[in-house]
Amino acid sequence: MDKNVKIQELKKKVLSRELPEHIAITMDGNGRWAKKRFLPRTVGHKEGVNALKRIVEVCGDIKLKYLTVFAFSTENWKRPEDEVNYLLKLLREFLKSELNTLHKNRVKINIWGDTSVFSDIIQEELQYAVEKTRDNDKLILNLALNYGGKADIIKACKELYHSIAKGEINIDDIDEELFSKSLYSKGQPDPNILIRTGGDYRISNFLLYQSAYTELWFSDVYWPSFDEELLYQAILDYNNRDRRFGGV
Ligand code: IPE
Ligand code: IPE
Ligand code: MG
Repeated sequence: MDKNVKIQELKKKVLSRELPEHIAITMDGNGRWAKKRFLPRTVGHKEGVNALKRIVEVCGDIKLKYLTVFAFSTENWKRPEDEVNYLLKLLREFLKSELNTLHKNRVKINIWGDTSVFSDIIQEELQYAVEKTRDNDKLILNLALNYGGKADIIKACKELYHSIAKGEINIDDIDEELFSKSLYSKGQPDPNILIRTGGDYRISNFLLYQSAYTELWFSDVYWPSFDEELLYQAILDYNNRDRRFGGV
């Protein structure tokens, strides 16, 4: 079957069923995508950004509510300085070239992760993107940047400790609901699906607390090759899963 016809059929199926509210993606495999083509890893990262642009557009088109993408982990600082700098450069280029389009499409940008380690100029640019899009009500795009699931939980603990110390809450007030409000994901539903490309079957410190009941979906495809068709496939597979949440 013609690829476009196939995609349209998959899309129709996706739209005829209940859409997940929140999709999270670990965009892995940029380096191996490039290596397979005898190209430097940087090219893989650049193509990875293009894949992200495509997927954000598709998510907006199908009226997904929340998309969370893992762009840089707290462990990714272990990479060579050149690669880290290149990734940050790509992030800035992404915001520069896409912000107006994202805003026009009413996409709201959030940053999940400790951005205080970035240079002032990067922090300002991130802040600007968040401020500019803050009232948008279509797709909520959470960019996980210098994000770690462990760091997220520790940040929440510290925040709650301060609230207790200031007498704003009592220790017994802390329950799952209140705890969730101190995470980067505050106010948002937990992801229904976590997609990981690149062929590895691990969480790599992504949404540790929020993924308690998330359906995991893995693909061997490297992130730069991820496309609309695979996204639809993931959503349709999710629809066929029997989510019991500990029940029968
Ligand atoms: C994901 O691709 C991008 C980031 C982690 C920033 P990788 O760079 O991890 O690609 P592989 O896993 O080495 O192929
Ligand atoms: C996960 O990919 C983090 C991001 C995609 C940003 P990694 O490439 O860092 O994960 P590991 O090293 O394979 O666990
Ligand atoms: Mg990787």
